[in-house]
Amino acid sequence: MTNFTETRKQFHLPKDSIYLDGNSLGPLPIAASQRVATTLQNEWGEMVIGGWNRAGWMNQPSALGDRIARLIGAPNGTVMVGDTLSLRVYQALAAALNTKPERKVVLSDNGNFPTDLYMAEGLLRSLDKDHELKIVAPEDIEAAIDENVAVLLLTEVDYKTGRLHDMKELTAKAHAAGAVTVWDLAHSAGAIPIDLVGAHVDFAVGCTYKYLNGGPGAPAFIYVKQDLLDDVQPALSGWLGHEKPFDFDLEYRPGDGIERMRVGTPPVIQMAALEAALDIWDDVDMDDVRTKSIELSTLFLDGVEATCPRLELASPRDPNQRGSQVSFRFEHGYSVIQALIARGVTGDFRAPDIMRFGFTPLYLSEDDVLGAVEHLADIMKSGSWDQPEFHARSAVT
Ligand SMILES: Cc1ncc(COP(=O)(O)O)c(C=O)c1O
Repeated sequence: MTNFTETRKQFHLPKDSIYLDGNSLGPLPIAASQRVATTLQNEWGEMVIGGWNRAGWMNQPSALGDRIARLIGAPNGTVMVGDTLSLRVYQALAAALNTKPERKVVLSDNGNFPTDLYMAEGLLRSLDKDHELKIVAPEDIEAAIDENVAVLLLTEVDYKTGRLHDMKELTAKAHAAGAVTVWDLAHSAGAIPIDLVGAHVDFAVGCTYKYLNGGPGAPAFIYVKQDLLDDVQPALSGWLGHEKPFDFDLEYRPGDGIERMRVGTPPVIQMAALEAALDIWDDVDMDDVRTKSIELSTLFLDGVEATCPRLELASPRDPNQRGSQVSFRFEHGYSVIQALIARGVTGDFRAPDIMRFGFTPLYLSEDDVLGAVEHLADIMKSGSWDQPEFHARSAVT
């Protein structure tokens, strides 16, 4: 049984704050400060370039990949860490398309995060082989899977509404139609139990700065199904994915298995922070996280609906149909979020009118949730959100 009182002690949270934005950027694991300082001083400082061999820097991407694997239902040796999620989407989609050269459609939905669609657009343009990026509504995805689809490219949990796709069922449907799947787990990894092997997913990608708490700019990860690994032709054929990088051959030959999904030099300092974050996850059971997350999100949803009649629920009411966030629509949502932040309650806003709140059992309690509801109810009732300082838009919302 996961001890959430203990996990909470392992995070630094700003004083007097209620942090409901771990679905966007997780807070600082206390041990990360020391871990990063050690990497800087003892490793970079004392070993300089020797750190690549002596401090195990070169192994970090696959070692951290194996630790993430447990959280997403993947075997060791199938997950590689590094680069950004946008790049991982490109990499996974390119590899997936390679397996279906005769098909021309990439199917996605309009609940997908824009970067996934932008990266797909860019890739298809540069392939210049008459591919089509077909975008339908999330509820129409199932019906749109047919024999023309090469790749089903979806984000499991909608970043705006928290709506959860049935990854297993849609993957089975895609396979029955002869397509392969790429799943973006940005809002799933560390949020809900995932069984990539059980769902027969072909490729998956995700980030580590949200629920996994790896820090701003933390590296992304990619998963490739074991039986596809040896046939993957990397589109981002960087030197560190080469079979023998230090032979400096002029011709690219992919490395063994998941090693070929490496690209270039790993971000060592950022990986040190991620390593400290993953230490916390080692004692966590994802089923316990899900149970507690549903308790917290339901408490919030019920509390807000009972006290804030002007807010419209944007997330599925059934907790089994959503990830670990709850969103409400309100025309002046941006200002309400600013008014909340001014009181130490952090959520965020996604245009045009979505207020998002993430529920992260590792460091959130029922009291936090009740406190957040109370502040939100007061802001809505008093209309205090409608002050000039809460209308000024910052670059990041
Ligand atoms: C589903 C999804 N994909 C991709 C990204 C962003 O990718 P990157 O890490 O490259 O900025 C986000 C960011 O929130 C996201 O929610």
